[in-house]
Amino acid sequence: MSDEPSITDVDAIERAFPSHVRNRKLRAWVSEIAALAQPDAIHFCDGSQEEYDRLCAEMVASGTLRRLDPVKRPNSYLALSDPSDVARVEDRTFICSVYKGDAGPTNNWIAPAEMKATLTEAFRGSMRGRTLYVVPFSMGPLGSPISHLGVELSDSPYVVVSMRTMTRMGRPVLDLLGEDGDFVQCLHSLGAPLEPGQADVPWPCSATKYIAHFPEDNAIWSYGSGYGGNALLGKKCFALRIASTMGREQRWLAEHMLILGVESPQGEKTYVAAAFPSACGKTNFAMMIPPAGFEGWKVTTVGDDIAWIKPGPDGRVYAINPEAGFFGVAPGTNARSNPNALATLRENCIFTNTALTADGDVWWEGLTDEPPPGLTDWQGKPWTPGCGRPAAHPNSRFTAPASQCPVIDPAWQDPKGVPISAFVFGGRRSATMPLVVQATSWAHGVYMGATLGSETTAAAGGAQGQVRRDPMAMLPFCGYNMGDYFDHWLEVGHSLAAPPRIFSVNWFRKDDDGSFMWPGFGENMRVLRWIVDRTQGRGSAVESPLGWMPTYEDLCWDGLDYPRDRFQAMMAVDRDAWLKEAVAHEGLFVQLYDHLPKEFILLRELLVARLWRSPNRWLP
Ligand code: GTP
Ligand code: SPV
Ligand code: MN
Repeated sequence: MSDEPSITDVDAIERAFPSHVRNRKLRAWVSEIAALAQPDAIHFCDGSQEEYDRLCAEMVASGTLRRLDPVKRPNSYLALSDPSDVARVEDRTFICSVYKGDAGPTNNWIAPAEMKATLTEAFRGSMRGRTLYVVPFSMGPLGSPISHLGVELSDSPYVVVSMRTMTRMGRPVLDLLGEDGDFVQCLHSLGAPLEPGQADVPWPCSATKYIAHFPEDNAIWSYGSGYGGNALLGKKCFALRIASTMGREQRWLAEHMLILGVESPQGEKTYVAAAFPSACGKTNFAMMIPPAGFEGWKVTTVGDDIAWIKPGPDGRVYAINPEAGFFGVAPGTNARSNPNALATLRENCIFTNTALTADGDVWWEGLTDEPPPGLTDWQGKPWTPGCGRPAAHPNSRFTAPASQCPVIDPAWQDPKGVPISAFVFGGRRSATMPLVVQATSWAHGVYMGATLGSETTAAAGGAQGQVRRDPMAMLPFCGYNMGDYFDHWLEVGHSLAAPPRIFSVNWFRKDDDGSFMWPGFGENMRVLRWIVDRTQGRGSAVESPLGWMPTYEDLCWDGLDYPRDRFQAMMAVDRDAWLKEAVAHEGLFVQLYDHLPKEFILLRELLVARLWRSPNRWLP
């Protein structure tokens, strides 16, 4: 017997839709997916607080969420995931363009017809015993010319409540879609159907996972995971992978960048966007508090993870944060490293895979020096210091409304976006890379971003601590051929009358004892101020083999006793290390050979030539 749904099923499903769901493409798609995945019920999300509270209460009852202490952490919950579902799965992420060359060698590729056939079988009956939630959302402020709409179909109520915090979600988006508005199709299933009478588990998921993107259809099919970027499809899948392909066609940029505003004591405002790989400090930098010595300076947050950047009529670029919340790394967040993040977390949050305290609050490594007694770890087991396991998973995260951030920028929801004066690229490099360098031209800056390297972290799901090339921090997120992406960056810059200045930074260089050479966090303001001064045509610098660099005198040291020789060691350009670096660049370039912009070959040659004409160890 075939369990193929008959057309009458589809008609019956469509007749049951609420009358305000008018969009024809949406109605047909929901019907088709309902017939395929066979959920017990369909719910069209309105995005209301009542809906959020009801879904959370249901998840408390089913064991997916624990309500945290309502006084310590009002309206907040903790979710503990299945131990096999804790991070993005890069080896299960696919770009299914028609031609393999369009996905490029840095992406996994499967032909779209083949992937759709596989996933159609995976989705058949995959929502049995569950509710199909229809989640309409806007990436970016409703109605902004920089924003785009999406609809996620998911059988996970955790995804629904998370999407309400992370995006503008609900009824107003349906109204914007009207009868024939277009949207990105984001299909998601946990891949854990329930047979009649089968008890559910707190974190349903499947051992088999697919995160598949169809750039030619603006569609995403995600199967088997309920965690983060695998499941909240507005984020990496739509706002980076699909949006990067849209941006390529429409001449704009979708980037893995935070956006911050800097206000000088004189009231001069400068916006900066910075790309650091996952778990390399975007949230910290975006919410930084200027240190002692920087009285009167203010840093404000527009976004902490993703930037959509479009050319404006004045030849500058304007950026929005397409998200409405922060899905931030918990471990290491504390009153010293990021007090603004802690304040953002005071209420209305969902924590995932942190530890639980005896009095109903959350804890993670680095929150306090001493762990509180009586902790339950992220796997729900009693935890004691020295037991050899972390209490919170290294990729445990918080989901928090951006509006709760005490330093949210007044223009963060401005539909025009904010004008960007500088792009910053940074990785986690314990050696070789100096604290800061300014590119000498747009093409050189694109080269610096393209050759970004970083030591891997828990967010990528694989081994930690190896240097990998992570161009523009987009290696896991570029929806098309990385070589074409570099070309696109060059094109965008050359089409602008006033392109942003480009910088590279590294907060993570270590000395021979293995200690960080730079205090980081709020002290990064010293570097940020130099960046701002350079973009405003002030601030002096010297020419190094790598580009423009500040001397000791060029940075402001008010309020910090930082010795000159330590600064020089941190800025040193070691020829041998850099020749190895140039070889690593070449490794990336030969991989991308047939799509690589010619400029890059010449810029690499220029780098090597400059290294040869400089001392073995160049110091500023
Ligand atoms: P995703 O959300 O994964 O894209 O990452 P993110 O870049 O927003 O990561 P986040 O800001 O949460 O990075 C957290 C990690 O960076 C923690 O291990 C921090 O301790 C570390 N970190 C952030 N800023 C600094 C810094 O200035 N110096 C040093 N040494 N570590 C930092
Ligand atoms: C990242 O890994 O860069 C994140 C977290 O921002 S996730 O949304 O899970 O990809
Ligand atoms: Mn990220």
